[in-house]
Amino acid sequence: MPNIKLAVLLTGSGTTLQNLLDKRDAGKLDADVAAVVSSRADAYGLVRASKRGIPTVVIERGKYVLPEDFSDAIFEAIAPYKPDLVCLAGFMSMLQIGPAYVNQVINIHPSLLPAFGGKGFYGNKVHASVLATGCKLTGCTAHFVDNEYDHGPIIAQKAVPVVSGDTVETLAARVQEAEREIFPEAIQLFALGRLKVENRLVTVRPIDE
Ligand code: GAR
Repeated sequence: MPNIKLAVLLTGSGTTLQNLLDKRDAGKLDADVAAVVSSRADAYGLVRASKRGIPTVVIERGKYVLPEDFSDAIFEAIAPYKPDLVCLAGFMSMLQIGPAYVNQVINIHPSLLPAFGGKGFYGNKVHASVLATGCKLTGCTAHFVDNEYDHGPIIAQKAVPVVSGDTVETLAARVQEAEREIFPEAIQLFALGRLKVENRLVTVRPIDE
């Protein structure tokens, strides 16, 4: 079976993108990154993509008033690449998805949703809130994207302990290690056609005989 095509949306350093590329190179992900869209012109993720010869587009959130117009511009930019799946890989803006993309957009979030999700919970802000709340356990969630923040059907989660003396940085690093496992795993299940969504619940189909 040919690899599926991904459009990757990002805002920052692009370690999540890099991990997908590395997993693909290692033969652990049947997916090629066809295009990268960044919501910031200075995102290092753009450099990572260009180094691999992957086409990049910058669509700055600040240039649009309405999230709908920003989202339309993104979907127009990726349309020529005909992606099978859109991956939000450290993408820090609200995306409005149209009917054609339902259950075809996937996000990795650095907490065990529904905890520490929603508007304002992104990147290190999530880890700072987890530490301030005194949680002993956090983690990450791979989920399909719907039109509410951090709300769509959950595909995979991995728990991570919070340990004494943790800082935002040490906790983020531990959570990102878990992200680097479950995000490509979720994408691989999608690539294999094994994810079924019914009434917002995701089940994993058994491997075909
Ligand atoms: C990742 O930890 C990702 O889970 C998080 O931002 C980081 C991006 O790192 N995403 C969110 O908070 C989305 N709500 P990267 O820019 O190095 O890939």
